[in-house]
Amino acid sequence: MKAPYIVVDGLDGCGKGTQILMLAERARDKGGRKLLFTKEPGGVPLATEIRRLFKSNLGMEASSLTQSLLMWASRRAYLEGSVWPALDAGTPVISDRGDSSTLAYQVYAKQAPELEGEFWRMRKLIFGERVPTLYIIIDVPAEVARTRSLTDNTHSSSFDKKPLDWFERVRDGFSVFAKAIPDKVVIIDGNRSPEEVQKDFYQIVSETCGW
Ligand code: TYD
Repeated sequence: MKAPYIVVDGLDGCGKGTQILMLAERARDKGGRKLLFTKEPGGVPLATEIRRLFKSNLGMEASSLTQSLLMWASRRAYLEGSVWPALDAGTPVISDRGDSSTLAYQVYAKQAPELEGEFWRMRKLIFGERVPTLYIIIDVPAEVARTRSLTDNTHSSSFDKKPLDWFERVRDGFSVFAKAIPDKVVIIDGNRSPEEVQKDFYQIVSETCGW
């Protein structure tokens, strides 16, 4: 079996960070199941530099297309330098965010519908045949995500100070992504206790990894 590449995505405040931490602990307890935990944008030095630019005032003020191109460049560096070598070595990859965020944030939240077709074309160019195995999207209502991210100090993203309709548009973007490639996306209800969410989350990951 080929090692899977699993993307975990959702609104800021959806609880994906907590779910990934819980998974890491559980995988370790179960006899050290090997996984690569990584994060977008970032994961390799060039992508970390792009992340810094993206999160600067200049990056935040950039147009949807400019931001998208930064994200695709960062993603390709991340695939070449981190994800693909791990998969080639047989290590499953758990990626905090993926291209689903580019559709949700750059195309939907930033209201650039003219980029939707480009999004799917860029996806082909950047991933080639090696698209992620599965996307797990943790879904919460926009109000819940916004309240959580405003009260959670560990979130420093400039996206977190956005109004409610921004969160609604991001959520719409994830929903469009899921509908476009339904066999690749699982949506989990994140509006429950972390333990309840983890039951579903762990089951999906363990099945996908063939544990
Ligand atoms: P980060 O601090 O990593 O937040 P989080 O823990 O929520 O992932 O900041 C990443 C931010 O970048 C997040 O608000 C979503 C945004 N983003 C995009 O706008 N487009 C993308 O393609 C990706 C991967 C992230």
